[in-house]
Amino acid sequence: MKKPIKSPIRDLLKIAKQISSEKKIYPFNIGDPNKFDFDTPDYLKQALIDAVKGKAGHYSNSEGDDEIIEAILKRELRKNEAKISKDDILVTQGISEALFFLFASSIDSKKDEILIPEPSYPPYIGVSSFFGAKIKTYKLDEEKEWEPDIDSIRDSITKNTKFLVVINPNNPTGAVYHKTMLKEIADIAAEYKLTIISDEIYDELIFGNVSYVGMASIVRDNPLIVLNGFSKSYLIPGWRLGYMYFQNFDDYNLKETIFSLARARLSASTPIMKACAKAYSGPQDHIKEMNKKLKERAEFAFKRFNEIENISTVKPKGAFYIFPKVNLGKRWKTDEEFCIDLLRNTGIIFPYGSGFGSKYGKNHFRSIILPPIEIMNEAFDKLEAFMKRKV
Ligand SMILES: Cc1ncc(COP(=O)(O)O)c(C=O)c1O
Repeated sequence: MKKPIKSPIRDLLKIAKQISSEKKIYPFNIGDPNKFDFDTPDYLKQALIDAVKGKAGHYSNSEGDDEIIEAILKRELRKNEAKISKDDILVTQGISEALFFLFASSIDSKKDEILIPEPSYPPYIGVSSFFGAKIKTYKLDEEKEWEPDIDSIRDSITKNTKFLVVINPNNPTGAVYHKTMLKEIADIAAEYKLTIISDEIYDELIFGNVSYVGMASIVRDNPLIVLNGFSKSYLIPGWRLGYMYFQNFDDYNLKETIFSLARARLSASTPIMKACAKAYSGPQDHIKEMNKKLKERAEFAFKRFNEIENISTVKPKGAFYIFPKVNLGKRWKTDEEFCIDLLRNTGIIFPYGSGFGSKYGKNHFRSIILPPIEIMNEAFDKLEAFMKRKV
């Protein structure tokens, strides 16, 4: 019998439900912009209405409809200089489904290790270990604005390392990596002949003083799997659509096994694929507006957290998260205990940092920076009073 997968992002919801009749809840846990003042752009809503009104009730190709595959190919060639063709793309029900396909297809539980950043988006820990992978982590260095620590990557590679995972822009830290950093990572992967998994779901959400570069343009010859999707930048997390692509992929067996799993689940949703085929070619104004709001909110959250006793943090440059450090003192034994106590007393839900990695996630918590400033201000006032309380 397998053990349940822990989710620091959703696990606290049970407590929130218990107290919701007596306390206002601040759901600062889930990275869903549509729960706040962001909404799906009109042209995409219209594209979905048109798809549903047309003939779209049928199953589609398992790998994805031609139209959306063409659109993804065009975008990835243009934005990231990807060295791929149509046959290298698989459309999935979000990156989440791609992760299940990937780890279910690839892991030999007797030996395989995956090397993930720490702190890390929790499914890289939970889903890969569910399929038997041994987790190794490399350090993201808080002292260096959460940049990957290259020595730590090198030190953690063994002969059993199967994948090296990069999440850029990063969840939970909000870091965006420089081209030189990505090049160093790609060089190590080439030296040890590792397959890189590059999660680029936040690639349009950049508001710090840094340019985004996709891994496909950096990696030369070694295998690369890029994961991306429409949830965040196109404001449709509930539509569930994403994709993965394979660059320099000689491991035909792995790719074929993944495509065979996709065939076993028949297809992604046809109307959603038809609508999302229009995502990249429609007006992209919502992305600019979103980054403007996120920049203001990142600056506000950064300032407020740093003003609060026993909390300090680095300013995010992309995605929509911030990952503050908390000095637990003698008041709490763990960051999980801190987050539960905070929730019971203030109604604020922050996922606990050790759920993002037990070493470098420890003594932290994650917050989203999606809520309007008035709502963040209200919650952070409560947090401030809670931190000042004498116990
Ligand atoms: C880094 C990262 N990858 C993947 C996902 C999941 O994306 P999807 O909605 O495409 O399943 C998230 C969602 O928060 C994420 O933060």
